[in-house]
Amino acid sequence: MQPALVVHGGAWEIPDVAVEACRAGCRRAFEAGWRVLEAGGPAIDAVEAAIVVLEDDPVFDAGFGSHLNLSGRVQLDAILMEGATLDAGAVAAVERVRNPIRLARRVLDASPHVLLAGDGAEQFACEQGIPLCRPEDLITPSQLAAWRRCRESGHTSAAHFACEHGTVGAVAIDATGRIAAGTSTGGTCCKYPGRVGDSPLIGCGCYADDEAGGASSTGWGEAIMKIVMAKTAVDWLRAGEEPQRAAERAIRLLSDRVHGTGGLILVDRQGCIGASFSTPHMAHAYRDPDGNLVVSP
Ligand code: GLY
Repeated sequence: MQPALVVHGGAWEIPDVAVEACRAGCRRAFEAGWRVLEAGGPAIDAVEAAIVVLEDDPVFDAGFGSHLNLSGRVQLDAILMEGATLDAGAVAAVERVRNPIRLARRVLDASPHVLLAGDGAEQFACEQGIPLCRPEDLITPSQLAAWRRCRESGHTSAAHFACEHGTVGAVAIDATGRIAAGTSTGGTCCKYPGRVGDSPLIGCGCYADDEAGGASSTGWGEAIMKIVMAKTAVDWLRAGEEPQRAAERAIRLLSDRVHGTGGLILVDRQGCIGASFSTPHMAHAYRDPDGNLVVSP
């Protein structure tokens, strides 16, 4: 079958000055994942490759350049899931790993567990040969300045809103019909230390099932968790819903039921794509049915 891939760089109000960087980041991430699929590689490798590019790009809230938490530190969450086996690997609240999606992959492939957090996750990284960085290596000057502005303004919601940016994710189906999904985030601006959102949780931050489809979420994690958004949307695919309608329905549920904002990308078993969001923008990229690359915003 024809492979398919969709990547996102988060649902948020992207300021005009950041639009081009978001578009370029999503395009580069798409191309990295697509190279894997074009070469006949597995969906899980394509998703990981795409997310590494997004984590390395400081315009997104994942890996290098993530939001700082209340203590002025970056704490990262990530998950990868494969739809053939429903196996997943995830990490939460890691502070010394440049590419948490690579560590999530090691949890998936080399650990009996699904989710490792904090010091234990970093210990596992060392055992797996993933080098640890210094916590400050993940901090950009612009995020440090944003954190200082938030702190000086007493953490008003307006200050947080002004420096929100995007969780990242990808969903793919490869030539053999295997589906994978992944998500990576620095979480919310000035979150409480140790706070973990939807992103590293199966069914919330992402879901993949070869019998139905795959999904990756972005947005306000406290709300997304309550409706188990990724699994909910994949279950609608399972019931025969079109991906675009399922994505729109999930975002409506997020808004109507738990007053949350966010976005969702979906791929079904036929490789059809859906994308929806309730924020002003969601950075994302995919190929349309004619093979043209669509990059938004
Ligand atoms: N959706 C990312 C987070 O809330 O942490």
